[in-house]
Amino acid sequence: MTVTALVSAKSCGVTASALALTLASRRTSLLAECDPAGGTVRAGLLSSTPTRGVGLYHLAEAERTSPEVFAQAVPSHLVSLDEAGHRKVLPGMTDPTQAAALTRTWPALSQVLHILAADAEYDVYIDAGRLAVDAGRLHPTLSCAPLIYGADLVLLTVRGTEQSLALARHLIRPLRAELDAHGSGADALAVLLIEGGYRAHQVSEALEVPVLAALPWDPATAGYLTEGGTPPRGYGGRRSPLLHRARSATEQIEAAAQRRRLRRHWPRPDHPQMAGVLDRLTAQATEGGG
Ligand SMILES: Nc1ncnc2c1ncn2[C@@H]1O[C@H](COP(=O)(O)OP(=O)(O)OP(=O)(O)O)[C@@H](O)[C@H]1O
Ligand SMILES: [Mg+2]
Repeated sequence: MTVTALVSAKSCGVTASALALTLASRRTSLLAECDPAGGTVRAGLLSSTPTRGVGLYHLAEAERTSPEVFAQAVPSHLVSLDEAGHRKVLPGMTDPTQAAALTRTWPALSQVLHILAADAEYDVYIDAGRLAVDAGRLHPTLSCAPLIYGADLVLLTVRGTEQSLALARHLIRPLRAELDAHGSGADALAVLLIEGGYRAHQVSEALEVPVLAALPWDPATAGYLTEGGTPPRGYGGRRSPLLHRARSATEQIEAAAQRRRLRRHWPRPDHPQMAGVLDRLTAQATEGGG
């Protein structure tokens, strides 16, 4: 399955969207809350769940012992979001000043998340928070750069508003360059749109990046996911537009990641007719997988 990192220019719904995708996926899923500015799930959706001694910072201590100890410690730092334990979260940092201590943990965590996706078939979503860019590079301590480079897909989360697009626009060029230089390529970048005034095609034209999926404006569900408390009426069913659409979004994400994998294994041939056949076959393969 796929490791997807969600990032933003400025608080616009990364955490709520990552939670919605994790909760809505048809597959076993994991949210790794790696926002270097600090996590909010513990004080929000998990506010009535005991999480003492568990989470990213404590897991990082295991990494300092050895890679094996780190890998073995991962399961005990995941908190279940459902009774069956199919949806899990690695709660993030409680203190933003811990971010610098985490820089040496990101590569090991990236590796573990990829193993969970490849071998245990988890849909993995990384809440990578707001992107901190310095002189065209992802900031070494204020961003979880190795996780972003390593992700199969990087979703720049934007709202369909002028304000959100105006800020997001400046991140496209550095992100693409960074993914080309250190990641799996600039085409890992796509937009996750939280619907507002602008339509998906307008957003992709404005940012010159494809909109891979869109989530609706749903304050009741998003409020519950970010604040916790009592679920809104109809939560989990069709009356929860955010979760309902997030389910389709997880399939769109998986299909896009599968297309990228196919293209990497079977590079596009120069011959136009062969390229056409490949396009049809990859489309069929991803439809079948969805
Ligand atoms: N799809 C949505 N519909 C309505 N409101 C939303 C949606 N997604 C997020 N919100 C609201 O927007 C606010 C910010 O959301 P969230 O905490 O997920 O953003 P964030 O990008 O993670 O922010 P930060 O960078 O500060 O961590 C919250 O009040 C949340 O309920
Ligand atoms: Mg957040």
